[in-house]
Amino acid sequence: MARSRILNAAAGGLFLATAVVGEAAALDGKAVFAEKCASCHNITGPASTTFHGVLQRKAPDLFYAGSKFQREWLVRWLQSPSRIRPSGTMFLNHLVTEDGKDRIDEGAVKPCASRLSAAESEAVADYLMTHRDAKMRAGVVDRDKKFSTSRALQLFTKQYPCVGCHRVRVRDKETGGVSGPALTDASERLNPDWVYARIENPQYWDPKTWMPKIDLSHEKREILTLFLVSRK
Ligand code: HEC
Ligand code: HEC
Repeated sequence: MARSRILNAAAGGLFLATAVVGEAAALDGKAVFAEKCASCHNITGPASTTFHGVLQRKAPDLFYAGSKFQREWLVRWLQSPSRIRPSGTMFLNHLVTEDGKDRIDEGAVKPCASRLSAAESEAVADYLMTHRDAKMRAGVVDRDKKFSTSRALQLFTKQYPCVGCHRVRVRDKETGGVSGPALTDASERLNPDWVYARIENPQYWDPKTWMPKIDLSHEKREILTLFLVSRK
């Protein structure tokens, strides 16, 4: 009697467990995306080739998300997004002029509207990770490779204009401009090989982006990438 009750309880538990797994597996990431995300994000490509198109863009393009992001970050972030771009998707749309001076109205910048459940987030992350750029080289950056932080800082903040547009953390302090995405959490968010490719040729990913294409040696581009993506 006691034994059969335990067995029944165990079977019930097993049934519950499979029901939960079954529910997650049944979620179709593509369908969730179409319903909750596609009104703002471009998932089919290509990127806009006109400045007007960039001004109209409601949210960052996601048609190469599988090359760009780390899946674990997506799963977490899509459940409660934090701000990445201090001036929004396009900084000119949030520029205000007061007393002859330009400033960004950061209060008017809206974060991503995603509020997915954990199960939805897993399914959508899987769907996003299937959107890869076929031409991007993989295995270019070894994120555990040693590099000189002082040389990286010299490149990022002095020799090249990176810090004018991007926020980074330098000795526990945040510093940098606001017209580009903050790179403070790039080590958790971005795929190192994609960071390298994005620095190498910004216009390949977004023909009308205002990030300049800078001619850099492999060594300099690698140091800049490691500075942004190395595990802190
Ligand atoms: C109302 C418009 C809107 C909707 C709907 C929306 N987003 Fe966003 N999303 C944004 C904006 C704006 C950003 C840029 C936020 C930032 O930089 O802080 C963003 C950023 C993102 C990013 C980071 C992109 C990057 O390049 O850094 C991802 C990933 C993302 N959204 C996924 C989703 C998913 C998945 C959904 C649906 C569940 C969704 N979004 C729904 C507006 C939206
Ligand atoms: C004039 C401003 C500007 C300068 C200078 C600039 N960037 Fe950018 N950067 C941008 C913009 C704009 C984006 C993409 C915007 C978006 O995705 O919404 C970007 C994207 C990136 C990304 C991808 C980040 C992400 O989350 O999508 C990396 C990495 C990056 N830049 C690194 C650099 C480095 C390294 C330098 C210096 C060699 C540099 N940038 C110089 C404006 C700039």
